[in-house]
Amino acid sequence: MMVESENPTTSTIGEGTAHQLLKSHAQQMQAVHMRDMFAQDPTRFDQFNIRVGSIFLDYSKNRITPETVSLLFQLAHETQILRHRTEMFEGLEINETEQRAALHTALRSPLDQEILVHGHNVMKDIADVQNRMRTFTEGIRSGRICGAGGKRITNVVNIGIGGSHLGPQLAVQALTPYTTPSLNIHFISGVDPSLVNDVLSRLHWDQTLFIISSKSFSTLETKMNAMTARQWFLESGGTENDIPHHFIAVSSRPDMAGEFGIAPENVYEMWDWVGGRYSMWSAVGMPIALALGMDGFLELLTGAHDMDRHFVAAPMESNMPIILALLGVWYINYLGVSAHAIVPYTELLEDFPAYLQQLDMESNGKRTSLTGTAISYSTAPIIWGGAGTGVQHSFFQRLHQGVEFVPVDFIAKNVSSGTLDEGNRALLANCFAQSQALMRGKEIHEVRSEMAQNDFSSEDIDFLSPHRSFPGNRPSNTLLLDDLSPRTLGALIALYEHKVAIQGFVWNIDSFDQWGVELGKSLATEIDDALLGHTQGESLDASTAGLIRAVQNRH
Ligand code: F6P
Repeated sequence: MMVESENPTTSTIGEGTAHQLLKSHAQQMQAVHMRDMFAQDPTRFDQFNIRVGSIFLDYSKNRITPETVSLLFQLAHETQILRHRTEMFEGLEINETEQRAALHTALRSPLDQEILVHGHNVMKDIADVQNRMRTFTEGIRSGRICGAGGKRITNVVNIGIGGSHLGPQLAVQALTPYTTPSLNIHFISGVDPSLVNDVLSRLHWDQTLFIISSKSFSTLETKMNAMTARQWFLESGGTENDIPHHFIAVSSRPDMAGEFGIAPENVYEMWDWVGGRYSMWSAVGMPIALALGMDGFLELLTGAHDMDRHFVAAPMESNMPIILALLGVWYINYLGVSAHAIVPYTELLEDFPAYLQQLDMESNGKRTSLTGTAISYSTAPIIWGGAGTGVQHSFFQRLHQGVEFVPVDFIAKNVSSGTLDEGNRALLANCFAQSQALMRGKEIHEVRSEMAQNDFSSEDIDFLSPHRSFPGNRPSNTLLLDDLSPRTLGALIALYEHKVAIQGFVWNIDSFDQWGVELGKSLATEIDDALLGHTQGESLDASTAGLIRAVQNRH
């Protein structure tokens, strides 16, 4: 039996005509193949590309015409994305369900600017924390700040999950060539004891620094891992008095970090106007600052600020985050797509799909509008992906010949032709070949004539040619990065942050809350009690109660 929502339903995006116009335009576009559009218009590439600083975007391999783009801009105007953009940068409480601003952009703004939250200039707070971060990270990196026994800190363990983990891990990995080899950075996020113990077993208590990173300081996994690390520290030879030399915290709840036993001078503050998944630009970026040095971390912030300025100033026609966002809306809401693949052609960005999963799906995986109505149009796509060329040998078959198409973002490092070695050439050749194959496909008559030329029998040609043909018309964006420096990475991440925010504005949802993760968290506590035998789990459904019994009965 279908259960109807009790709320009224919103089924139209925006209040103007663009939504209906896009729906009928989408029907016309079903019959249009990108291969033909490229053949008919030699200027297509020139029309559909943008450069912002060191990021070049080719979006010509999309199922769009100039009319598509202009209708999408109309939709953007009708959904007032420019007003929402201004409200975000000005610190208005656009996170309406939590009554908070979403001011991650302030974290990378020039410190002499004034940005007010409830009449208070937050830039002063940001500057104070950045100054403390500089003193601390320079002290650790130079050896001036040592462990309790006077030994140099050689290992840093970041304990945090979600936004308190994925951004720092992405940046530390992506910027490996810029990091200090004498400082190893480890990340513990999940509570799987085998992984936690594996990291700890490789460390020495007197040369290890733990960062407990948690905006709320109440996340179960982080609290458990922090306790495990503390216990390991004490059992390995450290004492209670040594703890201040080896444990620091990053949190918007210094009081709770204090209750855990972190000395006040070791707590680096972040604020409730920064969403967890937007927080790598705050002291949550401590592992990045330790790995790169504070100047490298500030370069990352500068890159993000470059993208902020572009997002604010560029007209829609050349605004990279707006274009990426609207292309996503086009596929999701008008061409029936529900997934989006991210494929970096550099192992250094291997963690980018995982980072974007939280950014995009935790922000926009929503079904209730800002006015509380149930919405019947689709929102966040399923974000997935992995680094090329490896993934060509796993999920690319599905991209090329699966029944539904999935748009892809290819991200590659551009290398000047003079220094194009074999490895980099192979990466770029594969990246471009995949986007070309997705776009062009291979028609059955092409396959048949190729097989005939290779002396296949007519039976084999009849049987095999459908299997060996490709539909094509499968869209992708290609982002070419001039380098993978801290500044470029900052701009790239900010580009996707803004893309996600714009889509949330178009869909009229709150991209900055995350109520959807709460239910599972509270049920886990109840089930934990039942597993311990403290409760009988009477209120649980038969499946969950049965699973608990299966655990309890296993000897
Ligand atoms: O998964 C829910 C969530 O609240 C994320 O939004 C957040 O990034 C993560 O948990 C960790 O939260 P905290 O930093 O408060 O420990």
